[in-house]
Amino acid sequence: MGIIGSGQIGTTIARLAVRAGQQAVLSNSRGPETLAGVVAELGPGASAATSRDAAAAGDLVVVTVPVSAFTNLPAEALVGKTVVDTCNYGPERDGHLPELDDGTLTSSELLSRQLPGAVVVKAFNNIYFEHLLSLARAAGAADRSYLPIAGDSPSAKAQVTAFIDSIGYGVVDAGPLADSWRQETGSPVWGTPYGPYSSKEGQPADEDVIRAALAAATR
Ligand SMILES: NC(=O)c1ccc[n+]([C@@H]2O[C@H](COP(=O)([O-])OP(=O)(O)OC[C@H]3O[C@@H](n4cnc5c(N)ncnc54)[C@H](OP(=O)(O)O)[C@@H]3O)[C@@H](O)[C@H]2O)c1
Repeated sequence: MGIIGSGQIGTTIARLAVRAGQQAVLSNSRGPETLAGVVAELGPGASAATSRDAAAAGDLVVVTVPVSAFTNLPAEALVGKTVVDTCNYGPERDGHLPELDDGTLTSSELLSRQLPGAVVVKAFNNIYFEHLLSLARAAGAADRSYLPIAGDSPSAKAQVTAFIDSIGYGVVDAGPLADSWRQETGSPVWGTPYGPYSSKEGQPADEDVIRAALAAATR
């Protein structure tokens, strides 16, 4: 798999993927040489590349960057790929984007527009990176946590569901990308179900908790 963006969430997903026996190709904006330390720590399952080469590395590519970087992604290399979008829009960091401010588009629909030919599935955007690491559990564990995913392609969602299952989480289908506002910043399912940020351990959130939080979202 490829990972574009190797900050808090990107490296956590890479860590879980490598732990699950997968090969992760990480990238950032500054170049692969700046990821040498992270790759060495993650071990032989991890390597670093340019974002273009990370995009080409597998059928599944995680895009985990600030929304302001969407225009700098290697769109051509992502044609035909399933793109997992972890990103949250924050005007204080990303600047104001009118279509997101007025709710005309979800940030995942914006990403989908920037990446014609890729199939976008939103996932991981609602969980703090420390909790993502600490709450991962094998399938069948009584205290397994669930993550919402949103997307327009059933086959891409199935692919992302299988990936998320392999790294330690169940999945709740949150509908199409147009409905992904239900899991965006500040929604009931965003952060809160997994416990306060002050605790690195977090608290497990089962399927019913995630379904109820999604249903409680209002615009
Ligand atoms: N942190 C969390 O707990 C969390 C949880 C859920 C979702 N999110 C969301 O997930 C996204 C990533 O968050 P984060 O906290 O991991 O961010 P972060 O720690 O600031 O890392 C951002 C990464 O994106 C890279 N990047 C920026 N522009 C790029 C480009 N054009 N091409 C390739 N890589 C690029 C940066 O590379 P350089 O350092 O080389 O510039 C950096 O590796 C954000 O949208 C955030 O809102 C974060």
